Amino acid sequence: MKTTLSVIKADIGSIGGHICPSRRLLETVQSYVQRHGEELLVDSYVSFTGDDIAILMTHTRGPGDGQIHKLAWEAFVAGTATAKAEGLYGAGQDLLKDAFSGNVRGMGPAVAELEFDERPNEPFLFFAADKTDPGAYNLPLYLAFADPMTTPGLMLAPTMAKGFRFVIMDVSHTAGDRTIQLDAPEELYDIAALLRDNERYVVESIWSRSSGEQSVAVSTSRLHNIAGKYTGKDDPVMLVRVQKNFPATGEVLAPYAIGHYVAGCMRGSHQMPLMPVPLGSGISYFDGPPVVSCAAFAMHEGKMTEAVDAFAHPFWERVRDRVSDKAMEMRRQGFFGAAMLPMSELEYTGIMEKLATLDGRFQVHKKAA
Ligand code: 13P
Ligand code: 13P
Ligand code: MG
Ligand code: MG
Repeated sequence: MKTTLSVIKADIGSIGGHICPSRRLLETVQSYVQRHGEELLVDSYVSFTGDDIAILMTHTRGPGDGQIHKLAWEAFVAGTATAKAEGLYGAGQDLLKDAFSGNVRGMGPAVAELEFDERPNEPFLFFAADKTDPGAYNLPLYLAFADPMTTPGLMLAPTMAKGFRFVIMDVSHTAGDRTIQLDAPEELYDIAALLRDNERYVVESIWSRSSGEQSVAVSTSRLHNIAGKYTGKDDPVMLVRVQKNFPATGEVLAPYAIGHYVAGCMRGSHQMPLMPVPLGSGISYFDGPPVVSCAAFAMHEGKMTEAVDAFAHPFWERVRDRVSDKAMEMRRQGFFGAAMLPMSELEYTGIMEKLATLDGRFQVHKKAA
């Protein structure tokens, strides 16, 4: 029997703007999943990162299962009622459709799912990021799965010697899922050429070329593509199976020490460094900085251990200090140049009307004869 890991997450309201959900909201979602998931699920884990609530579920129904997605959607609908009753900001923010229709993809919530034959021991990582978008994982995944400088396992472990297959999605293609498969290491430069553009090309999944098994699943939704306007960032979740045929936990975590600049933060419109934070962290400075959390698990027959907080270790305190410095440094240049996202990313915000008005006031001067 194959095991499925499904994580479905949404922002359905938060305290003080976009900081974090209320305790009551989190409890509403948690108890809804427990009460209504009894027959569907083997196990579940409900958590928050920033203002996003994620429902991690294990079951045997496969990815894209209507009943699993419906359970998560209805838990978010129940939570939205609590959010409204408490006057939380952005209540129901990511529920973009009125009625559930078969699958939460394209309805607002982000989804990442993995189906696999459980190994005798099955360690995996669950990442959740707030105030950024799926491209935030491009760099850490490239380093962990294709660069022996980060992942010595690529040279040392025979099980990884063949490298990994990257499935990369063109998220600007709204008519359907447009993807390409590229193999590392042979096509490393092609992978690099795409992944450098975080806003258009994002890693959707990564597969072992030795065993054919899937390691990584990333949520790839672009909210503005669904809503046609800015409704919030596409705060992404990710599942990564680790060890043996896959990179070790430490190899997957290491790139987060960079604090690389990602899209997000304040009105979804800025470039800011990504800060690895403990589980259950909110956001603060300039509606950020963008944060990423990581819960590590082991599991057996679909039952998960308790979550271990991968970024709680003292090592990451120094990293957080550095990321704070990088964030303040970037803020010193306000909206100029690299600090704010390019126009293509701002086109769903109010600035387009301003530019259209100004456009009519430009004058072309005639050349002197
Ligand atoms: P309001 O314009 O609703 O205050 O929200 C702005 C904001 O927080 C960006 O998402
Ligand atoms: P969320 O997408 O996390 O709701 O953030 C909105 C925002 O842009 C806050 O400035
Ligand atoms: Mg929000
Ligand atoms: Mg959010």
